[in-house]
Amino acid sequence: MMTKRPLGRLIRTICLGLLQVIAWHTAPVLALTNGLALTPPMGWNSWNKFGINVSEVLIKEMADAMVTNGFVEAGYQYINIDDAWQSSRGANGVIVADPTRFPNGIKALADYVHAEGLKLGIYSDRGTQTCGGHPGSGGHEVVDADTYAQWGVDYLKYDNCNASPSSQQADYQKMGNALLNSGRPIVYSICAWQFQSWMPNCGNLWRTTMDIRDNWQSMVGNMDSNATLSAYAGPGRWNDPDMLEVGNGGMTTTEYRSHFTMWCMMGAPLILGNDLRSTSQAIKDILTNGEVIGIDQDAAGIQGTRVKKSGNLEVWCKPLGSTNGTTKAVALLNRGTVPANIVVNWSNIGLSDYGTVRDLWAHQELGFFNGSFTAVVPSHGVVALRIAAANPPRLAVLPNGLPLHLRAYGVSNATIVVQTSTNRADWLPLLTNTPASDAWDLLDPNATEPQKFYRFVMP
Ligand code: GLA
Repeated sequence: MMTKRPLGRLIRTICLGLLQVIAWHTAPVLALTNGLALTPPMGWNSWNKFGINVSEVLIKEMADAMVTNGFVEAGYQYINIDDAWQSSRGANGVIVADPTRFPNGIKALADYVHAEGLKLGIYSDRGTQTCGGHPGSGGHEVVDADTYAQWGVDYLKYDNCNASPSSQQADYQKMGNALLNSGRPIVYSICAWQFQSWMPNCGNLWRTTMDIRDNWQSMVGNMDSNATLSAYAGPGRWNDPDMLEVGNGGMTTTEYRSHFTMWCMMGAPLILGNDLRSTSQAIKDILTNGEVIGIDQDAAGIQGTRVKKSGNLEVWCKPLGSTNGTTKAVALLNRGTVPANIVVNWSNIGLSDYGTVRDLWAHQELGFFNGSFTAVVPSHGVVALRIAAANPPRLAVLPNGLPLHLRAYGVSNATIVVQTSTNRADWLPLLTNTPASDAWDLLDPNATEPQKFYRFVMP
């Protein structure tokens, strides 16, 4: 039933809503026009698990595992080499891959990855050296972008070490232009550890935070920083709270499920950071949950926001399809140390009256609810829902004589019980149904006189 809220909270909600609307309308609509990353990029990157220990063998094995272990079917496609693949610059200024770790060079590796239907990503830095002390692209932007294009690189992560703060925007723009002029579509991932307003006009994605660590505090810290920037996200331009740590061992399975869900709620790039060759079934179930990935990959590209907070208990909403549409992804997040009930009121998520609720981790329709939905959420856990507005249920008597024919409207994909009574006091069950469509007919074989009453109840 609709939950009454105190006036103060209502006013606060309206103010927050107005602020969001204002933020949305004042946000820049400028965007990089390379036509890439229209949904958040999905792939894998070497850094979180392997650090500087990259090699041709590792990258090939990870590409193989992405194909054979079901990640491609789930939508992942980029295999990204992070820092430490570079060794030097040749006499002609062309960057050279480490000949011991990458004996066949990057072009051969790109060919291998492409032959598996995947795309290859690479890493560089706007400074003289990368963060790991390898040659950077500062002053070599054009030759590097052209080299990547010739090799068949599809994605560049561009870091921020060993460079002047004052030339940051200009440096990123130089590489952005060089990529655009290289003749090859290359996704441009800005990695400068915090948001700047010029970034949506320059890159397809930009890091909004410092490096993620494989623990709960770091993960929710990055989530909180990224959450303030929702107005800037959209198709082709994404806030990047850093790559996933799911499966690297520092968090519980429950915490990893929350990490993955919240990245999907924020429309974050889904760049895996674990060893794809030895992923446990529990972790694979998280990383390949198509219903949760579907939230992330929704074509409208609206970044979800926190719509309600009460201490450690939060409700997040990501409109699917359009801002004012009738279907919402909703996450109930418990940051506390004990299990707790979390309530989402339809007024929190821009719906009213009736809605059907689906649990995206249990893969279950939970039924038809009026005004709100409550779930118990484990400590550091999340419940991910898809809530769709539904018409109020109605029953109509069809003029077919006896036995009585009824038509039910407004309940689909939810279990409902029809009850009957002659005095509106003693209700008897007539039937239970989980109709697939919104209008369905039923028959009361015992209706011998017209003075009978019918009602719906939820089991
Ligand atoms: C920085 C980046 C990381 C990683 C390392 C590599 O710290 O933020 O994601 O690329 O550099 O040295």
